[in-house]
Amino acid sequence: MIETVGLGRRFEGTVAVEDLNLSIKDGEAFAFLGPNGAGKTTTVRMLCCLIAPTTGTAYINKLDLRDAESQLKIRQSIGLLPENPGLYESLGAYRNLDFFARLYGVSAKDREKRITELLKTLNLWDRREEAVGKFSKGMKQKVAIARALVHEPEYIFLDEPTAALDPEAAKTVRDFLLELKKEGRTIFLNTHNLDEAQRVCDRIGVLRTRLLAVGTPDELASRFFGRATLFQLREVRPEHLQALRSMPNVLDVRQEDSSLIVQVSDPKHDNPAIVSRLVAMGAEVSYVEEVKRSLEDIYLKLVGGG
Ligand SMILES: Nc1ncnc2c1ncn2[C@@H]1O[C@H](COP(=O)(O)OP(=O)(O)O)[C@@H](O)[C@H]1O
Ligand SMILES: [Mg+2]
Repeated sequence: MIETVGLGRRFEGTVAVEDLNLSIKDGEAFAFLGPNGAGKTTTVRMLCCLIAPTTGTAYINKLDLRDAESQLKIRQSIGLLPENPGLYESLGAYRNLDFFARLYGVSAKDREKRITELLKTLNLWDRREEAVGKFSKGMKQKVAIARALVHEPEYIFLDEPTAALDPEAAKTVRDFLLELKKEGRTIFLNTHNLDEAQRVCDRIGVLRTRLLAVGTPDELASRFFGRATLFQLREVRPEHLQALRSMPNVLDVRQEDSSLIVQVSDPKHDNPAIVSRLVAMGAEVSYVEEVKRSLEDIYLKLVGGG
């Protein structure tokens, strides 16, 4: 488990992260969304013991990252793909990975097995001897990801892993993240790609120095937009709108063509009464469905609102 308690970091005059309280379960894929300068990188660097918090702390697997001895153990259990990963450009992919695996004290036998596995999964096996300096951005990123995983960490932090990639390379990386998730690893993904967050992650936190919201995409949608249901009628009449607006549990009603978009706090509980009411008024209900809000709507509402 990753748990942050009042975690914060100041740089001279700037507060980069403030009072972050977050709990991420083992095996969960979590995305941190936020505009540039929101404090995403700073948070990940603190969690990976690269910089110290100025307030609060965090626990990785119950180990306090303020504690020097714990830091050594934490480093063994985490893998980080930084924003700008530096590789040894003159070395081949295999040698790059082998070098880092040695740093982590991985045994020769495990190194060979793990590196072979990673290079094959990432389609780099045939080019393992070529200097990575000649690789495309996407290939370099794959080597960097493999490097973050070479010691089989339980927790994987990725700081905008697809930001500089073309769509095809980004998809390879994303698919690989989904594989890691299937393996049960805990993923902490910094991204400003909403679609990526939604595809890869179970829960999303929106950060702008402070944590603005956290939840599953569905939870965020209902929290920030209410739970909306669409009632499609053969014909919407003004009295339908009036009737629904007078119902106590109805928060909002609006008309879109031949549909009524109705917001209630608990659709399961409140929708049957709405259907009954409409039918009692002679309305012909052709179908009823949940209105899904996109993550983009939520994100813009949270960070766009000044
Ligand atoms: N080493 C540093 N020295 C001074 N300010 C920093 C440093 N690192 C980050 N900051 C500041 O902290 C804030 C958060 O930055 P960062 O964590 O990089 O955000 P994000 O990754 O979300 O774009 C920014 O205002 C940034 O300028
Ligand atoms: Mg960043």
